[in-house]
Amino acid sequence: HKIHMNIVRSHCLFLCGFLWSLTAFPPCAALGQCRGSSPEQCSRAVAVQRRVDCHPQPGATQENCEARGCTWCTTDVPNAPWCFFPEDSPYGYSLGGNAEKTIYDPNTERFEVPLKIDSPGVAAEDTSYDVEFTDDSSHFRIKRKSTGTLTKNMKKWQSQAIHNMLFMFQPFANLYGVHPFYMCVEDDSNAHGVLLLNSNAQDVSLSPNPSLTFRTIGGILDFYVFLGPTPENVVQQYTEAIGRPHMPAYWSLGFQLSRWGYGSIDVLKETDVQHLDIDYMERRLDFTYDKENFAGLPEYLQELKKAGMHNIIILDPFISKDEEPGTYRPYDLGEEMGIWVNNSDGVTPAVGQAWPPGNAVFPDYTNPRTVEWWNQLCLEFKNVLDYDGIWIDMNEPSNFLQGQFPGCADNDINNPPYIPSISDRSLAEKTLCPDSKTYLGEHYNTHSLFGWSQTAPTFHAVQQATGKRAFVLSRSTFVSSGKHGGHWLGDNFSQWKDMHYSIIGMLEFNLFGMPYIGADICGFNYNTTYELCLRWMQLGSFYPFSRNHNAEGNMEQDPAFFGEEFAKISRATLRIRYSLLPYLYTLFFESHVHGNTVVRSLMHEFTSDQQTRGIDTAFLWGPAFMVAPVLEEASTAIKKHHHTGIK
Ligand code: NOJ
Repeated sequence: HKIHMNIVRSHCLFLCGFLWSLTAFPPCAALGQCRGSSPEQCSRAVAVQRRVDCHPQPGATQENCEARGCTWCTTDVPNAPWCFFPEDSPYGYSLGGNAEKTIYDPNTERFEVPLKIDSPGVAAEDTSYDVEFTDDSSHFRIKRKSTGTLTKNMKKWQSQAIHNMLFMFQPFANLYGVHPFYMCVEDDSNAHGVLLLNSNAQDVSLSPNPSLTFRTIGGILDFYVFLGPTPENVVQQYTEAIGRPHMPAYWSLGFQLSRWGYGSIDVLKETDVQHLDIDYMERRLDFTYDKENFAGLPEYLQELKKAGMHNIIILDPFISKDEEPGTYRPYDLGEEMGIWVNNSDGVTPAVGQAWPPGNAVFPDYTNPRTVEWWNQLCLEFKNVLDYDGIWIDMNEPSNFLQGQFPGCADNDINNPPYIPSISDRSLAEKTLCPDSKTYLGEHYNTHSLFGWSQTAPTFHAVQQATGKRAFVLSRSTFVSSGKHGGHWLGDNFSQWKDMHYSIIGMLEFNLFGMPYIGADICGFNYNTTYELCLRWMQLGSFYPFSRNHNAEGNMEQDPAFFGEEFAKISRATLRIRYSLLPYLYTLFFESHVHGNTVVRSLMHEFTSDQQTRGIDTAFLWGPAFMVAPVLEEASTAIKKHHHTGIK
């Protein structure tokens, strides 16, 4: 069911399970219904566990809470909102006329994500769920026909911000990509999934009600429900709708080595590396190579080719505008073709600052002309460096300033009345101003589509350039990015907890239809240690995308660096990987053809075993092979997990 509603500057409340409702803040004064919250009223108010936050932004007070028609009652329960929606209030949207299953707002033009959802379409009477509207049509329920439920108990209030951003790794903070999709295993072991196809900045909050609240600041409410009933069926149905994952080349399932800061071709040669990070470029300019420090690079790549090895080059989305006119073709050609993201005037290019010296402009990949430009440059560059794949980095898009020069104007688009709980509560943080113009519309709407719009064109360019199955690794992703690329989990830290989080990230991206996934083995930021790196090599031997990668300035961490014993142990787990490659490749084939996950959680496979529900320290390759790595310092065995019984 497609639900099109006017939701800007209002809130959408989406109760997972029982009740999904669409709500806006009513000015209570206008309704003549403002209420104080006396102790008696609080004692009669919604039970704490059932509260849904009515003032998600900072600065809630009794006054501003009640001004929006909500109830204010303090509580000691951790994280419970003090300002919450009253249950009996006439808040919310009400729909005139007959309650149609498609709800839309005919009066406003709204941004829609340009993604064609492929679905065979099911007649209403043949669905495995029912949609029931309340009398005033402001709420609806979705129920699984066979069991009458779609519920899951949640333990506590928790919010997740969603908006592309280059930022530090922190649980629940927004990062590089946007996938407003969840999969939920219900109490009776059936699973369902829900996609909100929306690219605007948003918050998703869970509460013990149980409820799920989506707050998005633009676009339409375009929900898709996938009823499984198994978790694997949910992902199959989801990827049928958004597009199946691409089929990776067999060679790309091998172990890979990378670092930022090799510095010279001599170090590359000593290390046998496959990924070329920005230091191969001349002054960090895309489509160039450093002819001093990397003299002979084209010939070296040919040698590697002959030895059966492959290589991947990095490209960034920012193009320097400050080279001598006539000397830097990517800029000159792009300028001639008029392909940059523009300022709010829609004419002058947005100018920011990133790796290349001077200032840079940003190609707008939502524009078909940009796709032509990019394709041409990638094809031409193949004659300079004979690459096998392209790694597209920093495509949130990142900019080292807050907005482009000269800063963002103070208007409603750049500073909307509600900003989801994204880092720094600024839509322009480390990127462009929301009122910038792209071919598909305002950056406000298309920001989180930047990396996604770059991925398919890069995939097609690599395919054309190599004549082979394409390898594209993208930092920023959106719903359906898996069709054309893989992903690494970004700039983690060389810390034990980050190694653990990598399992969670890998499981999530398998639900998102991006099974070619892995984290930087041994950690990116900070210096690693012998023990952490060794354990990480063991775990990373089982990442679908298995790459050891390191940041500039940190100590070396490739498996040959730490001596013979380390190398021997790393070889042992890598040998297990290599002996299982036919199995891994078959799983990728199944994922490409039927939409299966490649890596899955224990809960995913053993849904009726309640003990599997909390496990994020072990995972499965397909249905048949479990990996339970050591994740703690100074351990040589895995403790019997109190949930799993795994030893
Ligand atoms: C950021 C990427 O996340 C990282 O992997 C890369 O090494 C640096 N950019 C430098 O290109």
